[in-house]
Amino acid sequence: MKVLLATDKPLAKAAVDGIRTIVEGAGHELMLLEKYTTPQELYSASECADAMIVRSDKVTKEVISSAKNLKIVVRAGAGYDNLDLAACTEHGVVAMNTPGQNSNAVAELAIGMMISVSRNCFNPGTGSELKNKTIGIHAYGNVGRLVAKLAKGFDMNVIAFDPFVSPEKIINDGVTPVSTLEGLYEKSDFLSLHIPANEQTKKSVGYSLITRMPKGGCIVNTARKEVINEDELLKALEERSDLKYVTDIAADNQSLLNEKFGNRVFATPKKMGAETAEANINSGIAAATQIVKFFSTGDRTFQVNK
Ligand code: 3PG
Repeated sequence: MKVLLATDKPLAKAAVDGIRTIVEGAGHELMLLEKYTTPQELYSASECADAMIVRSDKVTKEVISSAKNLKIVVRAGAGYDNLDLAACTEHGVVAMNTPGQNSNAVAELAIGMMISVSRNCFNPGTGSELKNKTIGIHAYGNVGRLVAKLAKGFDMNVIAFDPFVSPEKIINDGVTPVSTLEGLYEKSDFLSLHIPANEQTKKSVGYSLITRMPKGGCIVNTARKEVINEDELLKALEERSDLKYVTDIAADNQSLLNEKFGNRVFATPKKMGAETAEANINSGIAAATQIVKFFSTGDRTFQVNK
């Protein structure tokens, strides 16, 4: 089988080497497309692929249609909003992700961004500490849980909202569950976002939630820019000169935000939450292993288009 590793943002060399060892060791062929700049390059590279491994690369219905032999696509990472699941299902392509494999890298970045914003993005001046501040975890999944664990190490008060996780499970981690989203934002000095981008969550974080935050509140977004209502964020930041917004995924209106709000906003130049060698190796190896298992035994664990 031909396995295409297509990454606009290449994985670390050790991860690519690991993927090659697994794929070739199972008798398959690895094809590599890195740093491509046009969707056409992805269409033509995928034409003869039986399997694909991608990161945030957009696997659109055009890609799925041009990849006539495609049987499985694995998103090496957690969020699969870049995969057209309906097109995958329509063409009989199994879509998977590799949940949890890059979570620690994202969680560490969330904490790093909180420290940076608390120290005026390392510009001279008096900053503040994380200790004794309240952090609200919006969605208690793999990344949210790890952010909670790290935040406890900083002596933060950790609270969480997740309607899909039982309060008992959250309490077991020494974290306080909050029963409403509004309540979470009202209590959080830092609000760490971990919701996926889907039809229910897109633009769901806007003015009414953001302005519930206490004085000096800061939204930390290592999830997706799509979950923010950017016009309403702008309005909230305009009206409340104490609020801050730091993100790993630049807003569409990021340059306007930077211009208007200076150190109160920060965006990484390119999404870097999972940009560590460890995360690349973990998620890349998991993706390759899932593909090899799928071809050898039909294993569909982690399928997301059921
Ligand atoms: C994920 O969903 O796994 C993270 O956002 C990482 O995305 P990336 O592989 O594009 O860095």
